[in-house]
Amino acid sequence: MERVPTGITELDVKLSGGYPKGKGLLVTGVSGAGKTIFGLHLLYRSCVDGKECVLIATEETPEDIFVQAEMIGLDLAKYYDNGQLIIGRVFESRSNKSRQVTKYGFAQEGLEVELSQLADYVPDSTSIAVIDNIGVFTLRSTAQDFRDQFDALNFTLNKKGCTTMFIMDESAYLMTNQVADYSVYGSVRLLVKENPYTDRVERYFTIPKMRSTNVMPDLTVFEITPEGIRLKTKTD
Ligand SMILES: Nc1ncnc2c1ncn2[C@@H]1O[C@H](COP(=O)(O)OP(=O)(O)OP(=O)(O)O)[C@@H](O)[C@H]1O
Ligand SMILES: [Mg+2]
Repeated sequence: MERVPTGITELDVKLSGGYPKGKGLLVTGVSGAGKTIFGLHLLYRSCVDGKECVLIATEETPEDIFVQAEMIGLDLAKYYDNGQLIIGRVFESRSNKSRQVTKYGFAQEGLEVELSQLADYVPDSTSIAVIDNIGVFTLRSTAQDFRDQFDALNFTLNKKGCTTMFIMDESAYLMTNQVADYSVYGSVRLLVKENPYTDRVERYFTIPKMRSTNVMPDLTVFEITPEGIRLKTKTD
């Protein structure tokens, strides 16, 4: 199976070279766990490798995203400027809608984007897409509606041959009974908890599922540093 480097060297080693190419991958975890940063690593590495990338951002402006990338030493703005990275501004459509509702007391039709329609933001030539965060599409839907829409989106992006990272916030993930896990090829779960041996609160990730990949579902401690995500080994 072909692999896509994750942008995190030690994670590539764990995953036999990277994320499975052309497949859907889910990243979940509480706020501040590092989900967006996992996405930024994948985008940056893919841009460096000359791939066409798309980021669909539902909660942050491109400017916020570039600042966040810079905080971990990644100059992502450069690839936005040269056109290699496209940013879908679903965030702005949502904000426009809220403004419209406030001003006119109703929402103008056509501004609302459905989860399955996000594929329209991804040109056929795209190699890598990161969608951050699909959780906003669960607010008015049942777990079944969400799963149908998510399966449709996943199917369309798979057909395009696009490797896609779906980022989903913890509360939406739990509210939809964790069904998102079933639709994807692989799943990475981020946790923040106290280490009983050191009494320090640390960030962890676990890979409960990664088809075609020999990976243990154990917990790995990681840190977010000015150079990005660093996995901690037992000797650290
Ligand atoms: N250079 C850095 N050094 C240390 N920590 C950093 C650095 N840059 C960012 N962080 C930490 O990373 C965390 C944010 O990670 P990230 O934005 O990926 O979380 P998230 O899971 O996407 O959260 P949310 O669900 O709120 O979007 C922040 O809490 C911040 O403290
Ligand atoms: Mg985030």
